[in-house]
Amino acid sequence: MAAAPATEPPADVGDADDMVVTAWEVSGKIDYNKLIEQFGSQAITPALIEKFERVTGCKAHPWIRRGIFFSHRDLDMILDNYAAGKPMYLYTGRGPSSEALHLGHLIPFLFTKYLQDVFKCVLVIQMTDDEKFLWKDLQLDECHRLGFENAKDIIACGFDISKTLIFSDLDYVGHMYPVIVKIWKAVTYNQVKGIFGFEDKGVPGEPGYEPVNIGKHAFPAVQAAPSFPAAFPHIFGAGNNTVPCLIPCAIDQDPYFRMTRDVAPRLGFLKPALIHSKFFPALQGAQSKMSASDESSAIFCTDTPAEIKKKVNKYAFSGGQQTEEEHRKLGGNCDTDISYQWLTFFEHDDAKLARIKEEYSSGRMLSGEIKGELIKCITPLVQRHQSARAKVTDEIVKTFMTPRKLAL
Ligand code: TYM
Repeated sequence: MAAAPATEPPADVGDADDMVVTAWEVSGKIDYNKLIEQFGSQAITPALIEKFERVTGCKAHPWIRRGIFFSHRDLDMILDNYAAGKPMYLYTGRGPSSEALHLGHLIPFLFTKYLQDVFKCVLVIQMTDDEKFLWKDLQLDECHRLGFENAKDIIACGFDISKTLIFSDLDYVGHMYPVIVKIWKAVTYNQVKGIFGFEDKGVPGEPGYEPVNIGKHAFPAVQAAPSFPAAFPHIFGAGNNTVPCLIPCAIDQDPYFRMTRDVAPRLGFLKPALIHSKFFPALQGAQSKMSASDESSAIFCTDTPAEIKKKVNKYAFSGGQQTEEEHRKLGGNCDTDISYQWLTFFEHDDAKLARIKEEYSSGRMLSGEIKGELIKCITPLVQRHQSARAKVTDEIVKTFMTPRKLAL
């Protein structure tokens, strides 16, 4: 059977302001309203937040109320399903390419922990060791090892062991292979090229030439497969196509799931629902990239209190004025100030955040002082994470990573 043409829009979003958001590149000044328009997702409205609170009986997370999780696909369907008392599951993932996660990587996992508490449901977490092998200059064993190590940081976020499966693609792929081959057959080569825009880099025979391997074209089906319950026969029963899936992630991962949603009805599967976050910005400012390979761009889960203090004081982009006199007169700019932006993620006390905003933008609070507020806020958070991680033994990781029956 020939695959129908893709109906959801292509992944690359560049515009006059050089905004680029793909699964591999996020750069330029990001206009999130424009992204919603161009990706074809929906904004999370006050009415939807009200429905979320009414249906779940739980207060919306500050990241929903503050517009950090700002966009969705079919979240209302998930709420209706929950209200009807039917099962659902959550799916998220990590591409293990570095030893330590940075605070940005923690966002979807901390939020997923909240969603697991709210919906009291099964969660599957994909470690795409295969993806990182295909994309990075890393050995296969190393990607697998990093997946195991990263799983400790993920478990430290507090997931329920009786309801959570973490799986390495390399180890688990056989269980979901029937779903993967069905996706491969239903998506054409041109559709994958259209969605992901894979192109060879450089000129054959010249230095720096990087041809696109066939694994990159095949991989999107591997990230798509866990969106379908049939990929987890030991959890949902063989061939299950009735339990809907909700995927929390930053919006960079949306291209994978546009392809997934497009192919789902052709395979008789439900489209997965999504809830998308904005990007947690780099220390140097919203337009530079937070990277696991650039120590100064981010705070890592492994950083000590002294490192946190040094990095924030030295690198956090300031929205303050050039001189104290000017700052007292004109005030700081919270829209560009990274300390304030990071506080919007991690200072969960609304009244305190509002007071900091008022003090800083009126000029009463100086740049050094708002940096001090940020250090006070994130240092205990990172320390708590480190002590939770230290308690995660290899045995605990192995249990989380064993395919088994979970409490639905
Ligand atoms: P990875 O390892 O690049 O990122 C893991 C998760 O972190 C999100 N993320 C961020 N969120 C907020 N601010 C940031 N600065 C930031 N940087 C990364 C990503 O959106 C992602 O949710 N291919 C994926 C792994 C994967 C996956 C999934 C992710 C497999 N299946 C299903 C989400 C949902 C990857 O390499 O993620």
